[in-house]
Amino acid sequence: MSSDQHTIEKFGLKLEDLTDNMVITAYTRFGHRYTRVNSEVCKFVRHNFFNCKISIKRKNRELKIDSDVLQEGDTILRIYDFPPELTKLVNVNSKLIKALKYRDILEFDVKQKAEIEDDTKDELRKIIQLVNQSTKRLSVKEERRLETIRETNELIQKVSESAKVRRNAMESVEYAMDNARRGLNKIDDIRRYVDSITESASADAMAAIANIKASDQTYAHCVDVGVIFQNVYNLILQDTGKKSVFQTPNEAILSAFLHDFGKSQIPKDLLESTVRFERDSKEMKVMMSHPEHGAQLLSQMGMPEPIINMAHYHHVKQDPNMLSSYPRGCTYDKVSFETRLLSIIDAYQALVGKRNYKRSWSPPATMRYIDALSGVEYDYEVWLLFLKVMGLYPKGSLVELSNHSIGFVVSVPKDEGDPERPVIAVVRNEFGEDLDHHELVDLQETLDISIIKDLDNQEVFGKNALEIFMGIEIN
Ligand SMILES: [Fe+2]
Ligand SMILES: [Fe+2]
Repeated sequence: MSSDQHTIEKFGLKLEDLTDNMVITAYTRFGHRYTRVNSEVCKFVRHNFFNCKISIKRKNRELKIDSDVLQEGDTILRIYDFPPELTKLVNVNSKLIKALKYRDILEFDVKQKAEIEDDTKDELRKIIQLVNQSTKRLSVKEERRLETIRETNELIQKVSESAKVRRNAMESVEYAMDNARRGLNKIDDIRRYVDSITESASADAMAAIANIKASDQTYAHCVDVGVIFQNVYNLILQDTGKKSVFQTPNEAILSAFLHDFGKSQIPKDLLESTVRFERDSKEMKVMMSHPEHGAQLLSQMGMPEPIINMAHYHHVKQDPNMLSSYPRGCTYDKVSFETRLLSIIDAYQALVGKRNYKRSWSPPATMRYIDALSGVEYDYEVWLLFLKVMGLYPKGSLVELSNHSIGFVVSVPKDEGDPERPVIAVVRNEFGEDLDHHELVDLQETLDISIIKDLDNQEVFGKNALEIFMGIEIN
């Protein structure tokens, strides 16, 4: 029964036998809705158990498949091999138990940590004390270096975990928008992914991914705006002591996810068009109706006011006489702080992201461009708060250094630091060779090196940019 000294495995446990110190290794018995699954259950399992293995019965044959090839009509016998980012589906706690009950999942195989004897704990405590006493105090500089390495490795780890969550979130935004197109206003799926993002992914890491991966469609745009908004908004609240207008932390990300929900009322061929529409064209007028559609849909769905404000006014400019300001006739006093922040992030993501009719901009070039427009199109005070969090070189930006090596920005200067001098993880040396062992260059400390150019990561690394970023390892 026991696999090693400290872990016990148990099989076929019922829901009421699960306790907090257990980790589920397999879901083994299911309610009747998992027999010959319908399209809704099929989609739910494919989304939520992404990258897991499933044993199924298909036309009287038992098969082992990857979750993403589950089909309607399959009967689920067992779900197992959970990838590390799905901790929320395996680490037992009251929330998970409630969710499993609701989802009608009945039996489980688990691992359980055996309690370490008290004597052993005392021994451990003594050893830790000894280690602490013998460690010399590190110099401030060395401490800072180690802290930067730790933060970088943590960011890279979180990016890898979050990349899949982002992909799933994009699918659920698309699903919800397609539903809205057919008159079904169900956003449960988006809510579920908002929950999973806040639980199993990091907004900080997701924001870095958004900077690296040039997203090219409405759904990715909504997800990227959502995660950047949540990340930046939280940091601004911490920094300024401002109070959130949202009832829960998840509502902040949901609000930004839904800012373009009105696009569900715009014909798909217009959304996916490869031409840029003239300002006065019929098509542009239809496109420009999405904020009003969004506000209407969201208020019909009973969404709170701050969310409706964001959908309604995110294209209103500080100078409402500008041709790019719409809905026409709306003035800036109606536009909440959150919407002003969102409109900056919306513009930022639209430029960094790829569109069918334009290529992507690098994050630093985008920051400089919006900087020039703040005070005219965007609220200057809000811009400064955004700039402070993102930095002139946002995390994930690819830059060339004066020694001709190339690297990604992994940390943004804090407070008094020079905004032109972030921390860079060098991935390609001055001879154009891609490195296996990466080096951190903290430009605040290394004053003889500076950034000479910002680069388009797609141009340098093609589709592999995110993979290369995730492969960064600093020792
Ligand atoms: Fe919009
Ligand atoms: Fe947008």
